[in-house]
Amino acid sequence: MKQSKVTLSKDYKISKIDNRVFGSFIEHLGRAVYGGIYEPGHPAADANGFRKDVMDLIRQIDVPLVRYPGGNFVSGYRWEDGVGPVEERPRRLELAWSTTEPNTFGTNEFMQWCKTVGTAPMMAVNLGTRGPDDARNLVEYCNHEKGTYYSDLRRSHGALQPHDVKLWCLGNEMDGDWQMGHKTAYEYGRTANEAAKVMKWVDPSIELVLCGSSNSHMGTFGDWEATTLDLCYDKVDYVSLHQYFDCRDKDTANFLAKSCDLENYIRTAACICDFVKGKKHSKKQIHLSLDEWNVWYHSNGAQFEKWSEAPHILEDVYNFEDALAVGLMLITILRNSDRVKIACLAQLVNVIAPIMTENGGKAWAQTIFYPYLHASRYGRGYALQTLLETTKHDTKDFTDVGDVDSIAVWNDAAEELTVFAVNRDMEEDNLLSVNLKDFAGYKAIEHIRYDGFDRYAVNTAQKNSVKPRSEALSATPDACEFRLNPLSWNVIRFKKV
Ligand code: AHR
Repeated sequence: MKQSKVTLSKDYKISKIDNRVFGSFIEHLGRAVYGGIYEPGHPAADANGFRKDVMDLIRQIDVPLVRYPGGNFVSGYRWEDGVGPVEERPRRLELAWSTTEPNTFGTNEFMQWCKTVGTAPMMAVNLGTRGPDDARNLVEYCNHEKGTYYSDLRRSHGALQPHDVKLWCLGNEMDGDWQMGHKTAYEYGRTANEAAKVMKWVDPSIELVLCGSSNSHMGTFGDWEATTLDLCYDKVDYVSLHQYFDCRDKDTANFLAKSCDLENYIRTAACICDFVKGKKHSKKQIHLSLDEWNVWYHSNGAQFEKWSEAPHILEDVYNFEDALAVGLMLITILRNSDRVKIACLAQLVNVIAPIMTENGGKAWAQTIFYPYLHASRYGRGYALQTLLETTKHDTKDFTDVGDVDSIAVWNDAAEELTVFAVNRDMEEDNLLSVNLKDFAGYKAIEHIRYDGFDRYAVNTAQKNSVKPRSEALSATPDACEFRLNPLSWNVIRFKKV
């Protein structure tokens, strides 16, 4: 059996984890909204048409933040189409995904849904086909109390109190030529600066996310961040990163090593932010918003009827190895919590999502639901420098990949310590020894294991059995060695007793 070791001390803190790293994303895309979170007439719908079965699953994860309304969708969106009397709202051609947008769900419905489910909104403005004027009007509509055109318009639409949206994205993936209103770094940097200026004039308490590169493989990566940040450093608070992985070639070992790419991407993006900081002799620290991340490839190439309403698009059915990849990405996010302050699993329901639904039928948890749930439930507190000694292997694209990857989180208020660990090895167990340096009185209480499944096992509406299992450890209070099965996600929980 292979062996690994982690050494933990309360003194070795990386950072307090920002709860917003457990965020997610709902775009007007496929069945994320219509048939996902919103389905009037569904047996489980409340009076607003919000699906309670879906809300129950979201509440289990405790999602603190939901980005909305896109994604590529936002770059052609007129937010005014989605407010006011529903019967007067226009049906529009939605060019990002070639569908028809009915606009029966919009800003006020989303805010109401956030309140009902217990999450906070992260709004994106359209800096593709529109610009600073529409962006500042939307901030006024959402956040200004009353007595002006847009705040009174909101009140006339029934929302008497401001929505008080604290976090705003300045467009979406503006470096990509697939984006409506795609821009060069200079064009986007100037537009973002002017939008940021007037948005913060309307409400100085808001925080803004500048679009970074759509992924680290973009030809303009690096230059894009440096140029755009140079143009609006003082006005923005975060730079975005987007990262999706795939296993098209069925090379599991290589797939599970891809979280190393995410690690590199985060570290490089942080360096670029600091390069601009240095150049400007600024004291201000720009942090990172990984506001789209996931596995995405199963649904690529799926056909649907052009201009149809809420078609089945991007409905990836996730298998067990995808859950391990998601677990590894979560470990990477937590390890980099000194710079990554916001992260959104893309997306939340039906569209590349942990939760799936049938129109008029069931809602269920996909495999990737579970590591996300565990990280959100037990990953709050301080990320600890997890001194990890592990054996290593090479894959097609990566060298010296740890057989085990791990991060520990200390929740000082609850007096709990949680070790998250993935054994990437496809055949061998790994004996993980956990060396607690100064956690006097802490005992292992539970080992949650997600393992033993075929790599390609999935959950469906009919068969929902690819689930983790819990092993209570009360009988072995001093046990500090844990067997990690091959291809496994592990959550080892310690508590002061
Ligand atoms: O999440 C799906 C799409 O991926 C988003 O609309 C876009 O921002 C990204 O390319």
